[in-house]
Amino acid sequence: MRLFLDTANIDEIRDVARMGVLAGVTTNPTLMAKESGISYRDRVIEICEAVNGPVSAECTSREVEGLLEEGRGIATWHPNVIVKIPMDANGLEATSILAGEGIKINMTLIFSANQALLAALAGATYVSPFVGRLDDAGHDGMEVVRQSVAIFDRYNLPAQVLAASIRSSTHVIAAALAGSHIATLPYAVLQAMIKHPLTDTGIERFLADARKYASV
Ligand code: E4P
Repeated sequence: MRLFLDTANIDEIRDVARMGVLAGVTTNPTLMAKESGISYRDRVIEICEAVNGPVSAECTSREVEGLLEEGRGIATWHPNVIVKIPMDANGLEATSILAGEGIKINMTLIFSANQALLAALAGATYVSPFVGRLDDAGHDGMEVVRQSVAIFDRYNLPAQVLAASIRSSTHVIAAALAGSHIATLPYAVLQAMIKHPLTDTGIERFLADARKYASV
């Protein structure tokens, strides 16, 4: 399973890119609104230059014509940019047209396997079930990931499942075991994946022992 970062913060992205584990980035208007002093377009280009992989930038238009114009514009920003479109009837229509033009789409705000199937059939390259938000609403968010993976496999649909709204390192393991192609993580979750208390105490003990022979 590939890992993306779910952030628009360039320092977080550069930090994780240096570790060699970063395959892409997803952004959304909420994440962009946390950044200041830089335009949306410039930040997306900056991210594209910091990571060698797909970078999703979200459309905010609600009508088909607006989505087409916005999506075509975003697609010119950088070769790695992926146009992110929210799930609804207009989003499906725009996805089908843009995908037909060779533009890669990440269909977002997926909360059911039915929506995932529709997104894949419309031609989305990435389909993003929101695990954490489903869990918050009392559902099993990971079940939508499992079902989407099974359906895409069963019918040889080329769309990739991108597990989104990931809230914990255990979500990451569950997404990997569910067969998700990608999980997009907040920076804090990536950091939590690195840490283990036994690793920390193990390093301390090795260093203490190394000091014993270093002083001989
Ligand atoms: C995915 O692409 C979204 O940006 C994201 O995962 C939303 O997650 P949230 O529920 O933490 O806002």
